[in-house]
Amino acid sequence: MRARACSPSRRYILGFLALALACGLAQARFRQPSEEYQARRAKLRATVDGPVVLFGYTGHEDASEVAIFFQEPYFYYLTGHDEPGAALLLIPEARGTKSPEGPREILYLPARDLKQEQWEGPKVGADTPGIAAKTGFRAVEPFASLRGDLTQLAKTYPNFYTLLPPDQEEGYPHLTNWSQWLRGVLTQSSLRDVTPVLDAMRQVKSAGELALLQKAVDLSVDAHLDAMKRVRPGLFEYQVAARMKEIHEMGGCEREAYAPVVGTGFNSTVLHYSALNEEIKDGDVVLIDVGGEYGGYTADITRTIPANGKFTPRQREIYDIVLGAQNAALAAVKPGAVLFGGSGSLQQIAADYIDTHGHDKQGRTLGRYYIHGLGHHVGLDVHDPGDRTRPLEPGMVITIEPGIYIPEENLGVRIEDEVLITKDGYQLLTARLTRSVDEIEHIMAAARATPQP
Ligand code: GLY
Ligand code: MN
Ligand code: MN
Repeated sequence: MRARACSPSRRYILGFLALALACGLAQARFRQPSEEYQARRAKLRATVDGPVVLFGYTGHEDASEVAIFFQEPYFYYLTGHDEPGAALLLIPEARGTKSPEGPREILYLPARDLKQEQWEGPKVGADTPGIAAKTGFRAVEPFASLRGDLTQLAKTYPNFYTLLPPDQEEGYPHLTNWSQWLRGVLTQSSLRDVTPVLDAMRQVKSAGELALLQKAVDLSVDAHLDAMKRVRPGLFEYQVAARMKEIHEMGGCEREAYAPVVGTGFNSTVLHYSALNEEIKDGDVVLIDVGGEYGGYTADITRTIPANGKFTPRQREIYDIVLGAQNAALAAVKPGAVLFGGSGSLQQIAADYIDTHGHDKQGRTLGRYYIHGLGHHVGLDVHDPGDRTRPLEPGMVITIEPGIYIPEENLGVRIEDEVLITKDGYQLLTARLTRSVDEIEHIMAAARATPQP
């Protein structure tokens, strides 16, 4: 008997289902054990004198055709829950008789929509069997109960905490919308900002976070090594990025950590260059700032390499000044040091180095061509939030990324590495990716002798 062919519309729906299921799986690929999130919630509850309310993304934040749902990072940090439309309520430990009995941590989930799930894959709801074990919350309630629960709590607690928006919230107004919603419910309460507490927590990584971060770094280092072997005149910038993205994704990265920068010649001087439409030219340098995201954690790595495999004397001179600045900053990295703020800061050390080595074509010092900060914290966000003047502590991960960009010479050089602060100093998480001119040239020459697959 001939197999009955799928009708086009049925095939269309099945195709979408497969795609949606694949997307659904991708998001939960590397969740950490529930105990990790529980420990973070317990720590947060111990620091506040009122309930904390946080909202996950709804899935409507990005209307583009290629959008895939990714959870709001603070919400993910505290829950590991990566489905849309959820909320989190944390209640401080009972201190005294006025504190209400009952669960201190509640995850609120939207009502399931079985029709929608045919398109987007199965979701969990408050009534899903085994939901407590799945989410790590003993109390999981329908989202619709949140308003009433808050109203009840407002009878006990004068202060509530949430993520208040900055003066100008960039992009989709997630924080603005939800803090307004909360003000509408908690009309008599004071709404306080929990952002600084959470930022400080997120700056110090746990062993589980570091394992995911290292995996993102390792896949990104693989991709940079491949690019070093493959780059040559005639290749297009987008082809370099495409290959690197393939290496990330084949290794398990769910997406790029940020828009890839692959800039040849003049484009190497454009900090956020993203068009990637130029052919790599003989004699250019190619600046490659590309990193993957694995289990939610980001890698941020830059290398600058010669298009034809050999730096010109001027390119080498500028490269070695950037490398010297990076090494000077690295030598000062240890607990207690600060990235920004004052004369002994890592930023100042790198800036001083650049401004006291080499000159431009008019004989001027090079400080004017170092136009960005030395680094930032890295984690669930590539520019992880928090105070960048806070003294470094073991468990923090930062980038060290000096650069010199001279548009009139079509010459931009940045070297960017990720550093874990340790008890005694630091560990270079990107150590496997060489920074030396000689070794870069050696890798490129060896690759030219053996055609790349
Ligand atoms: N790739 C973004 C940055 O280096 O900060
Ligand atoms: Mn960076
Ligand atoms: Mn970067």
